[in-house]
Amino acid sequence: MDLILALSKGRIFEDTLPLLEAAGITVTENPETSRKLILPTSDPGIRVLIVRASDVPTYVQHGAADFGVAGKDVLLEHGGEGLYQPVDLHIAKCRMSVAARAGFDYETAVRQGARLRVATKFTSIAREHFAKKGVHVDLIKLYGSMELAPLVGLSDAIVDVVSTGSTLRANNLVEVEEIMDISSRLVVNQAALKMKRARLQPIIEAFERASAAKA
Ligand code: ATP
Ligand code: PRP
Ligand code: MG
Repeated sequence: MDLILALSKGRIFEDTLPLLEAAGITVTENPETSRKLILPTSDPGIRVLIVRASDVPTYVQHGAADFGVAGKDVLLEHGGEGLYQPVDLHIAKCRMSVAARAGFDYETAVRQGARLRVATKFTSIAREHFAKKGVHVDLIKLYGSMELAPLVGLSDAIVDVVSTGSTLRANNLVEVEEIMDISSRLVVNQAALKMKRARLQPIIEAFERASAAKA
């Protein structure tokens, strides 16, 4: 029974390679140079699909891929239906934060009950965060380059992932509140876990062992 793994190009692909190696699997083509979207591996029974980061849960939910790797941010926005999430892989670590222009007094605006315009790709996470705080927000959905929104008056604040903070610094923004820590998870299709358990279980265990070292 063949196995299909869904990964996104870039940091998730790079950080998953050592975990695959720990399971004895080598991806034999590089997605940065190949135009192929289905990559072979050293195991003829395992192939890798290259999809957008936010599409990984969708492929796995519908069984087009048996398993995949996705950020907690992406999983929260997706909702997680049909997905089993057995392992925190401790890769692609960052945090979800609220950021605003250096001159914007976020604390006072919140205390005074101002209505905030918040630009983000992560509308579910943002909605839940501000609802819990009792802050009224107008959410503005963006698909990238969130850091630009406060600079051109599109929003008062953004909700985005922060790692080193260099993107915020380069755009004169400051982190005003941390929402949650983010890392990537192994996600497995619930039906595949039952039907292909014998094939999947050793890989899940190898991923678990290899990622525990990074915890
Ligand atoms: P796309 O480019 O398709 O819009 P994306 O920007 O979400 O998607 P990546 O940048 O590869 O794709 O991010 C994949 C995951 O890595 C995110 O879901 C998040 O969990 C995490 N991540 C994003 N940015 C960083 C970062 N700067 N440092 C560490 N982890 C990050
Ligand atoms: C991500 C994210 C932030 C940045 C944060 O962008 O969207 O802009 O990283 O990281 P930092 O705090 O270390 O600067 P990414 O590098 O994924 O580029 P993208 O815009 O193509 O998603
Ligand atoms: Mg990105």
